[in-house]
Amino acid sequence: MENQPKPLPRITAFENMGLGLFVHWGLYSQLGVGEWTWKIHERPREDYFRLAETFTAADFDAEDLARTAKNAGMNYIVLTTRHHEGFSLYDTCGLNTYDAPHSPAKRDLVKEFVEACRKYDIVPFFYHTTIDWHWENRQTFELSEEDFKRYLDYLCASVEILCKNYGKIGGLWFDGNWSRPQSDWQLDRMYGIIRRYQPDAIIINNTGLNNLGEYGHPEIDSVTFENNTAKPMDRTGRKKYVAAEVCKTMNAHWGHAENDFAFLSPHALIERAAHSRGCGANFLLNIGPEAQGRIPDYERAALAILGKWARLYQEAVYTPRPVPGIKYPGRDFMLKEGSNYYYFTYDLDRLGDNNVTFGTHGTAFRGAYGFNATVKKAYWLDDKSEVSVIQDKKEGLLSFYTAGFPYGMDTVVRVLKIETEE
Ligand code: GLC
Repeated sequence: MENQPKPLPRITAFENMGLGLFVHWGLYSQLGVGEWTWKIHERPREDYFRLAETFTAADFDAEDLARTAKNAGMNYIVLTTRHHEGFSLYDTCGLNTYDAPHSPAKRDLVKEFVEACRKYDIVPFFYHTTIDWHWENRQTFELSEEDFKRYLDYLCASVEILCKNYGKIGGLWFDGNWSRPQSDWQLDRMYGIIRRYQPDAIIINNTGLNNLGEYGHPEIDSVTFENNTAKPMDRTGRKKYVAAEVCKTMNAHWGHAENDFAFLSPHALIERAAHSRGCGANFLLNIGPEAQGRIPDYERAALAILGKWARLYQEAVYTPRPVPGIKYPGRDFMLKEGSNYYYFTYDLDRLGDNNVTFGTHGTAFRGAYGFNATVKKAYWLDDKSEVSVIQDKKEGLLSFYTAGFPYGMDTVVRVLKIETEE
């Protein structure tokens, strides 16, 4: 393919992380009705800000969080260091007292987070809001241009603290510029601060629900597909290779919502994680810890199952990349690394005795069109059983009979490794 930009090393490293854990936790978690509750439920300011007086973080165990992510096959965590409510989980070093060290928690939770990540070989990322419902008791979108400039001084000072005080971080994940599209957010200045202290940090600025996958400022290293699915990236003619990331809630809210039962099954999570990788995008799956930081049971359990899948197909999930120009049946796709191809099969049958295995939903014949490499050997990555493939190289056709999952397993999306002579 011609005219394709090459990724910077930090962007390749980010893509190789593959799977990440998003953590939405703040004062709002105590109310258990989502992170937008102050605004949506029109709560009085005074009542809401008093939540800082009951925030103990007693159940927040950063090491447990890092281990949980690791166990889920994730290589990075994005923590909400400050969400729209304006409360910081880090020490604002005197910018204000609306932060975790001044709450009953009396701890710098971001420091604990970063240290735990390092211990478990997880890359720490900082989510940081750019809109603020607390600063000078007004909402960012209501500020005059003059006041907004002063707010940006505060925001930049906050970002500088995060870049200076916690050692090397993976990146910053901003969210909220969509609230004032007409204003000058002084992005050169803000991203300049990051590059000064953290030259290798990934910079992301969420483009929101309505502008999925949109490019932005030249310093941006990854586009976002908020709460959606990725689309394959066409980078032809672009100056910079920009990565892609899908962030996804596990139920219908980012912040803890006690009565939100709309959880995705591990089955759906695996399919979505795989689909993101098929588009070359990272998959950033969210959890919403409870009031004082406890990870909800279902979220922990679902993560563990996703982790089993990721470990089983480890070789295929992180470093291989999409191959342009090949067509597949249904949702199947291939990734490639060196001379190896990884074929991801969806909707496979399950084999067994008719008395226990019931109903079929998949097509047994699978394949690819536009595939020109010569196959040496093909086998399932999970049990290493070989699969014979048929090739018509003139037509660029590859086909195989999948037979289905052997009785005793169903990993939802099954990966076939295809070694070629390339
Ligand atoms: C949105 C929401 C926010 C959430 C974010 C995650 O922009 O405002 O609550 O943190 O998306 O992608």
